[in-house]
Amino acid sequence: MERFVVRSGAPLSGTVRVSGATKNSGLKQMAGALLAPGVTVLRNMPPVADLDVMIAVLRAIGAAVEWSGSDELRIDATGSLHPEAPYELVTQMRASINVLGPLLARCGQAKVAMPGGDAIGSRRLDMHFRGLEAMGVELEVVHGFIEARCNALAGARVVLEFPSVGATENLLAAAVLAKGQTIIENAAREPEITDLAAFFNRMGAQVFGAGSSTIEIEGVDELLPVESEIMGDRIEAGTLLMACGIAGGEVMLEGARFEHLEMVALKLGEMGLRVSPTPDGLWARGDGRLSAVDIATLPYPGFATDFMPMAVALLTVCEGTSIVTENVFDNRFGFVDELVRMGADVRNEGRHAVVRGVERLSGAPVQANDVRAGAALLIAGLGADGETTVYGRRHVDRGYHDLAGKLRSLGADVEALA
Ligand code: EPU
Repeated sequence: MERFVVRSGAPLSGTVRVSGATKNSGLKQMAGALLAPGVTVLRNMPPVADLDVMIAVLRAIGAAVEWSGSDELRIDATGSLHPEAPYELVTQMRASINVLGPLLARCGQAKVAMPGGDAIGSRRLDMHFRGLEAMGVELEVVHGFIEARCNALAGARVVLEFPSVGATENLLAAAVLAKGQTIIENAAREPEITDLAAFFNRMGAQVFGAGSSTIEIEGVDELLPVESEIMGDRIEAGTLLMACGIAGGEVMLEGARFEHLEMVALKLGEMGLRVSPTPDGLWARGDGRLSAVDIATLPYPGFATDFMPMAVALLTVCEGTSIVTENVFDNRFGFVDELVRMGADVRNEGRHAVVRGVERLSGAPVQANDVRAGAALLIAGLGADGETTVYGRRHVDRGYHDLAGKLRSLGADVEALA
């Protein structure tokens, strides 16, 4: 069974380069490449398991996708496309839903399997649907598939009920080739949205205001393929910072951007971990046991939900009691019972968890059920006596490129076993 084995050891020390954000930014640009007939080249896209799924989705649609380097992908969307994303692929990875907007823009129709819920919550798509309908799309769910069609996409003003990352991305992708102006109000402000908008603008799109709550898009007639470099993975950087909080030590994270991690740095600072920007990335240092703080997750620039499981892992060994509130997903505390197996004192009720810090965790076999839960259990092992085995490694490999190797290069005793 694929697993990580981790033993606590010396404090972390050294420099590591943060990977490109393949899962949360790269996959969206792969879907966006469908908008431009020709060859799009995406760089800084290290392989993670979800990337294989998106490659299979694009190939099923009729694009040619191949590697042209260890972290460089070429997507040729020249030919006619078959606008259908199959059930077997979409149910493996929700980000497949990001082909909906591009397929409507390129083909005037799309058939995409409904992804369903997953381990962290129900994950509805109503905002994607309402926004696309406002742009002239007729849409229904039939036999488990979203069937959508339009004569021509028309610009519209869309107010999102919540700043959904996926809905903002899909509407942005639909709007860049729509007729007229689209305004997305209450848009998600995550750096991955800014990365996607910059990619579209390089292709010739007219997107203004990405990174703010109001995004304006003036539709253009065509987009041209470009070469693009994917942003550094801020979630991976945050994971390594929290690992440093648990194990102590001093680390340099090259390629991490302080402005993407300000709220994490602020919270970690309150806990006693020093985090500062450097010309190349981020520096962090932790001495001794950190102090408990309360955390509430929020859309960017708030404390991201994707950091929450790792933050809880860190808080389990801090001094004092913390209240952690999850405001984005309705069921993201599944990993807590596994931390309790390791001797953590955490009580979860609904959207809240009360974490009473203990001196040390105790190594145990545990099971990961999603990508960040797995990362949380892995770094918890750094603060646990003896050996921790994290089963369900495949969940971590969906989104992280060689997390064990990165921790090892900082001196941690971590193995990824098949
Ligand atoms: N929501 C709705 N209706 C919608 C869309 C979303 O109710 O139409 C709700 C969801 O159910 C959820 C909340 O809004 O409760 C946030 O969902 P959002 O659409 O913002 O998330 P997403 O696009 O599905 C991406 C990331 C997630 C990350 C969230 C929030 C990717 C591939 N996924 O998901 O990443 O947690 O944004 O930042 O980019 C992860 O990396 O571990 C991960 C889960």
